[in-house]
Amino acid sequence: MTRIRRYGDAAVLDCRGPLREVAGLRMYSALSVVLGGHEPGLAAGPAAAIAALRRSQATGVLSALDAAVISFRVDPLADRWELRDLVAAELGWRNDPRDWQVNLTRRGDLLLAQVGALYRSSRFPTMARLPASTNPVVAALLVQLLKVGAGQVVYDPFCGSGTLLVEAFAYDGTAVLIGSDSSPTALAAAAANRPMWGGGPLRADAARLPVATGSVDRVVANLPFGKRVGSHAANIVLYPAFLAELNRVLRADGRAVLLTEDKELFRRSVRRAPGVRVLREVRLASGGLHPSAFVLERTRTARGRRP
Ligand SMILES: C[S@@+](CC[C@H](N)C(=O)[O-])C[C@H]1O[C@@H](n2cnc3c(N)ncnc32)[C@H](O)[C@@H]1O
Repeated sequence: MTRIRRYGDAAVLDCRGPLREVAGLRMYSALSVVLGGHEPGLAAGPAAAIAALRRSQATGVLSALDAAVISFRVDPLADRWELRDLVAAELGWRNDPRDWQVNLTRRGDLLLAQVGALYRSSRFPTMARLPASTNPVVAALLVQLLKVGAGQVVYDPFCGSGTLLVEAFAYDGTAVLIGSDSSPTALAAAAANRPMWGGGPLRADAARLPVATGSVDRVVANLPFGKRVGSHAANIVLYPAFLAELNRVLRADGRAVLLTEDKELFRRSVRRAPGVRVLREVRLASGGLHPSAFVLERTRTARGRRP
């Protein structure tokens, strides 16, 4: 696999080989067949795109789709309607913007056929989800940044439906997982997902965590951004209160990975919080938002104080 291009909010990787290996990777949001572009080795134009789709359907990635008639949609591109009509006429595919298997789109100069919506992917389990549930690819990235060691205690105090706990369990089946949330609806979803992470979610406000001082190795959470969940005004109170609790429960060599769109408030809150500091900020783009994943570690003083 080779990285070939980077765009504002995407990296496109070129990959040749068996599909099964690609299907085993978690940290990408779309698998696409390149249909054409203006660069060496690629043909451009509608005829080339149809030929590439035919080839892929016969012997390539699209042959993995099990449907008598493939359903597709086309992103709002300049030539959207021409493409739609051409694919329907030439290949007999059914245009269905709501229930599609293939999405035609562009990244820079490349015309691409994206395969399958993320929720259908066998890379991730089918889970009970909430409107604000974390995108599984983002969850995979957060857990990767968390650097979980064997048998460590991993805690999500804003667990929602438990996406991050499910991902942490998939990453390391020996981790001891704890999830809590203040919302009964979220807890019901996390309980429904229990077979995929193995714990029982707790009802708790993140300003008062129901675990002992210095008992947690890793904290991971998708915080209320103050948009779809909570408000900026509520975050002004919540973030410092939660960070004080984080300082209390985290072990000396503990680490936290926290996702938020309320970034300036978060940075300010961490600067004023006891015992933790930002080690790294990873900027993301997800669902039209631009949150950051903040990796937090103990300050040197806090590290010296605890076992
Ligand atoms: C962005 S969602 C988390 C999504 C979750 N990772 C998932 O995949 O479903 C934020 C969660 O924080 C919870 N929450 C908001 N304020 C809270 C508080 N003060 N204490 C604990 N949980 C809180 C909400 O109920 C919501 O489930």
